[in-house]
Amino acid sequence: MLKGKHIVLGISGGIAAYKAAYLLRLLVKKGAEVQVVITPNGKEFITPATLAALSGKPVVSEFFAANTGEWHSHVDLGLWADLMIVAPATASTIGKMANGIADNMLITTYLSAKEQVMVAPAMDLDMWAHPSTQRNVATLRKDGVIIVEPASGELASGLTGKGRMEEPEGIVKAAEDYFRRRETLRGKRVMVTAGPTYENIDPVRFIGNYSSGKMGFAIAAEAAARGADVTLVAGPVGLPTPDGVKERVDVTSAVEMYNAVTQRYADADIVVLAAAVADYAPATISDTKIKREGASTMELQLVRNPDIAATLGESKQGQTLVGFALETDHELSNAMHKLEKKNLDWIVLNSLRDPEAGFMKDTNKVTIVSRKGETHSFPAKTKREVAADIIDTITGNKDENGKT
Ligand code: PMT
Repeated sequence: MLKGKHIVLGISGGIAAYKAAYLLRLLVKKGAEVQVVITPNGKEFITPATLAALSGKPVVSEFFAANTGEWHSHVDLGLWADLMIVAPATASTIGKMANGIADNMLITTYLSAKEQVMVAPAMDLDMWAHPSTQRNVATLRKDGVIIVEPASGELASGLTGKGRMEEPEGIVKAAEDYFRRRETLRGKRVMVTAGPTYENIDPVRFIGNYSSGKMGFAIAAEAAARGADVTLVAGPVGLPTPDGVKERVDVTSAVEMYNAVTQRYADADIVVLAAAVADYAPATISDTKIKREGASTMELQLVRNPDIAATLGESKQGQTLVGFALETDHELSNAMHKLEKKNLDWIVLNSLRDPEAGFMKDTNKVTIVSRKGETHSFPAKTKREVAADIIDTITGNKDENGKT
């Protein structure tokens, strides 16, 4: 998995820096090409000479080489890396990464990195538990950084608790898992619907819902990162197209979404329907703004919109069809009912009763149910992590321990 991969190993100033030498050795033994970038404080804990000898490359630390004044290009390093691993990542380095405080080569390289970044925190238990650290870690997760959770155990301070850097073998495994996952959908064509639909009443008003598109966009981003050809059919949202998405089709109404999706259905291998589609639309749309004068009540006649999921379910030709169920009550039975009725293969249940799930949130908490009745429940996670869980579950992707 790591053979020939370009890895930037970022080392910051904590006692666990001594383990970075062993991590570096393991990466090199697995066939990776490793470039070390170390912070000024990191050098207090481990010498660049050791790291240069193990990596076979001069260690980068300063913006300029002291003897020649040559500028070290963090941009080149960021472009070169297939993966950047920051291990150990101190509270200070995590804070700088989360806030873009680019005062050393490790941070500037991070800000220039085009591919995945992975962070293995190492610090005392109180520093790890501090709300500031937890906020910064949450920001990094939201930015798509993989966090290799610290372990519990004896710490350099003599205290015992959570904060020990994951062992080098565990970090290498996380890197291997990342590269393996990246290939999960290579050659597959994935279509994702995202966001709300707006059903116009007149030129200034519509019937809509609170969907932000974040869940669907996260699925599109994750599928693209795993090598799929992704088509994203998006309702009216203000989100940028995720990196690697091949085609984005912007639509407004349910009928437009229906047309865009059904036209492309035959070419898809997997379809994930994360959009919150309006079930009804006004029977007529006024050409002019409806005036307030007149009766104190008004009636709006609504007609049923096409059910995109059910249409795809009826004409399935080998595609894997994944729907969502947004429920407020009898969650599981309602979701199962939708799965059957729409002939889906999987349904992702999220509940509006859950404070960490649903519309507009950065997190979601889902239960994924298969047609065969397999149920996988997950804790609240960022929407990008939920997207990864959905893809792992529907593709049966497991790590070496059999965990999805
Ligand atoms: O966009 P976010 O702010 O991140 O919020 C994410 C989300 C809450 C919108 C998302 O996680 C979600 O639950 N999407 C589905 C919401 C929904 O409309 O659920 P539903 O139970 O009404 O519909 C069931 C399934 O049928 C869904 O896959 C839906 O896309 C699909 N459907 C519904 C109606 C319709 N006319 N056509 C459809 O295809």
